[in-house]
Parts: sequence; C-alpha cells; structure tokens
Amino acid sequence: MQVVILPSSESIGDYAADVILRGVAERPSTGHTNTGHTNYVLGVATGSSPLPIYEALERRWIPELASISAFALDEYVGLPYSHSESYHSVIDREVTTRLRLDPSKVHVPDGFADDPAAACLAYETAIQDAGGIDLQILGIGGSGHVGFNEPTSSFSSRTRIKTLTPETRRDNARFFSSPDEVPLHCMTQGLGTILDARKVLLVATGEKKAAAVARAVEGPLTSMCPGSALQLHPDATVLLDEAAAAELTLTDYYRFVFDNRPEWQR
Ligand code: F6R
Repeated sequence: MQVVILPSSESIGDYAADVILRGVAERPSTGHTNTGHTNYVLGVATGSSPLPIYEALERRWIPELASISAFALDEYVGLPYSHSESYHSVIDREVTTRLRLDPSKVHVPDGFADDPAAACLAYETAIQDAGGIDLQILGIGGSGHVGFNEPTSSFSSRTRIKTLTPETRRDNARFFSSPDEVPLHCMTQGLGTILDARKVLLVATGEKKAAAVARAVEGPLTSMCPGSALQLHPDATVLLDEAAAAELTLTDYYRFVFDNRPEWQR
C-alpha cells in the first residue's frame, strides 16, 4: 500500500481528484480500451470521508466527467429510496448532481428489492458488464469495515446482505433523527468485489479513525479488520490526515517514500 499523509481534508480531496481526473482524461472518449469498454468507471462511497473528493471534483469539473459510470459500495436494506439518508439519495445529492453525471449510469445496490439475493447477483453482473471498476473510493469504519463488510467478512465475499454492528449503527446514528432509525441490515459489495477494482483509494481523517487505519495498514491480514484485505491489492493508496495517521509506526518511512517517489509515480 502507498500511504500518503496530507495536511488537511481539502488537500486529500485535491490529491484524490488529481488521480481520478487523470484516469478519466486518459480514457479515450471514443473507441475501445483493452477492457472493451469506453467509460471510466468510478466506485463511490458515502459517509463523511469522501465528501472532500466530490467537492474537489465539482470545483475542477471537466466535461469528460459527464460520461463516466459510477457504482456505489452499499445501501441500507429496507430504507425507501426517497429517504434522505438512503444511499440512493446520498449518492444522488453528493455525486450525481455535483459531478453532473448521467443518472442512468449511476448504480446503487437495491436494498429495497423483493428478491435481495437476485439483486446482489444483478449488481455484480452490472459491474462486470460495465468493464469493472477503474477506481474505488473507500472510507473505513471504526470497526475496520470497508463498504459495509463488518468484522469476519470473507476476503473473497461478493455483493450480499450483511448485518451492521452496533458500533456502525451508533456511528451512523448522526445522520438519522434517532439511533433506532438506523437500519439493521445493508447490501454491500464484498471484499472480493472491492479487491477486483483496478485501483483503490482509501480516505480517512480524524483521530477516531487512527486505530482502524493502523490495523488495516500495518496489522495482520485478518477478517477481524476487513480493511486489512487491501494489503492484498496491487494498487491501493491510503490518504490520511495527521490525526488518522497517528497510530501508524512507519510514518517517517511513508513520508520518505512520498518525498522520494520517482517521476513516473508523480
Ligand atoms: C460508505 C461505506 C462505509 C464508510 C465508513 C466510514 O459507503 O461503505 O464503509 O466509508 O463507515 O464512514 P465515514 O466516512 O462517514 O466516517
């Protein structure tokens, strides 16, 4: 993993936007790539962590962004799409509208499906049909979850229904009028689905994330910290502010690597 420690959320947003805009610009607008698909495919997360990325992309919008496809990581089960905190609504507000995406190319798991198992399979198929995810944006929960893959999630899991931990429900209660309103279940891309993305950018800010970040980046590979699965990914970058990096042991080395990165990595 490449660990990049930056001074502020805003600089994290700009760094991530640079990577995404470069990827979008490199994708030809006509003709086929080696995946047989022309659209850049962005994996999007909800929650607070990625907001500076969407803000930076909105500020630095380029017309090529309008043609990308997007896939959300997860959705609550049983929350109507129209609920302001359903991830359908959040993605619509924070991603589709801000980045002026074509809503027909923005996908969110169907947590309201009559047949959830079929909906999970259909989501996996839709990602494959789009050519796979070029870059997946991730946050990390206090439990170490990425997506809603809570502790003990299989590293090879695919999109499926999970039960949220009490810790995650407490963390997310801030978005609801009462903690009991936070759904018990979610539909989430699996760790195997996330590991298939060609590039992964995990963002974490603030001291509350420091322990989970240290376990994911420097801890053993363990399903007890689902974020540690990213150690298996060949192109994963972790963008942190100082507070989220506070419990890492190799911060001097990460800074040294970043300051001395070869020209081709810049
Ligand atoms: C959101 C998601 C979650 C969040 C995580 C951190 O789609 O899948 O894994 O990224 O819970 O949430 P924030 O960023 O709000 O601290």
